[in-house]
Amino acid sequence: MSNAAIRRIGVLTGGGDCPGLNAVIRAVTKTAIIEYGLEVLGIEDAYLGLLEDRVRPLGRNDVSNILTLGGTILGTTNKVNPMKYRTGTDADGHPIIADVSDRAAATCRKHGIDVLVCIGGDGTMAASYGMQRHGIPIVGVPKTIDNDLMCTDVTFGFTTAAQTATDALDRIHTTAMSHHRIMLVEIMGRNAGWLTLHAGLAAGADIILVPEIPYTVESIAQAYRRRAEQGKKFTIIAVSEGAAPREGEQIGEITDDPVEPLRLGGISEILARQVADKTGAETRATVLGHVQRGGTPCAYDRVLATHFGSAAMHLAAAGNWGRMVAMQEGRITSVPLEAVAGQQRLIPANHPLLAVARHTGVSFGDEEA
Ligand code: F6P
Repeated sequence: MSNAAIRRIGVLTGGGDCPGLNAVIRAVTKTAIIEYGLEVLGIEDAYLGLLEDRVRPLGRNDVSNILTLGGTILGTTNKVNPMKYRTGTDADGHPIIADVSDRAAATCRKHGIDVLVCIGGDGTMAASYGMQRHGIPIVGVPKTIDNDLMCTDVTFGFTTAAQTATDALDRIHTTAMSHHRIMLVEIMGRNAGWLTLHAGLAAGADIILVPEIPYTVESIAQAYRRRAEQGKKFTIIAVSEGAAPREGEQIGEITDDPVEPLRLGGISEILARQVADKTGAETRATVLGHVQRGGTPCAYDRVLATHFGSAAMHLAAAGNWGRMVAMQEGRITSVPLEAVAGQQRLIPANHPLLAVARHTGVSFGDEEA
């Protein structure tokens, strides 16, 4: 389909919210209207809105004054993938999971949506890739505070979240110093340690624990003792929610979410007790939680989100569907959806920041004495 053949686009936000979503919605909508003269429909609550036919027009006034606003004016959910949708429970109380993509595609057709712009993480890209195979043209925009999407150097929302976590670590620093304590700060990121690594480095954390590098409590205790020998009376540990010991598992709760049942969380409390037992030091844990996802995007994320949104609209108008916009080596480009769908980008063992951290005395809890 050429530019001239498109009349109407749909836009949805999927997965966990993150700073910059509204900036993307605004950029997509404005570019569609100003540059291409298209109509825009907003889908409420991600794919749920397509399943429940909750769709509303977006005009220029609807996206006024939302550039700086956190969250998403369209609403979101991270539990709905039309290909794995919970339709009810069977006689034994087990969830019935069905592929209802046809229903979502039918809503698109009913509203004359020619292209669907999907703003989300790997789960949303997987669902969107499925929709594309059901004949709905898709353009993706990479969102997540976790920064764990394949084929893009950065996702919008990450930089804001890293700053929020850094601010929190800075505050923990002063109270740790006053009380001569070991302070653990639990940081989001799922199975990827990007957020913890960046915030930990930015705030000068002494120990950084990420999912990609299994730790031992003994190694953490040794790092604490080395600091104590140098006269340092406190230690800051930035720990990813997905970090796990060398011989052990991630900590979390199994939920009824058919797409991602393990909800990570709780490692800092457990580890705080173990570290206190090993070192005899007074230890406290702080879980930053959803504070990291809320609030206004920083300047970098506002610009990135606007750039991504506008670029997505250009792809949509040019008939370049089945692709996600991406940032590679400082340039905006696009990559096939299938290269991103359901994949997670973890910190590679040779990432330069890991070496930088080690060279500046950071422990990853994996060093042997
Ligand atoms: O993917 C973003 C994220 O904030 C993760 O870092 C975290 O594990 C998860 O979402 C939390 O999800 P929920 O909002 O469902 O608690």
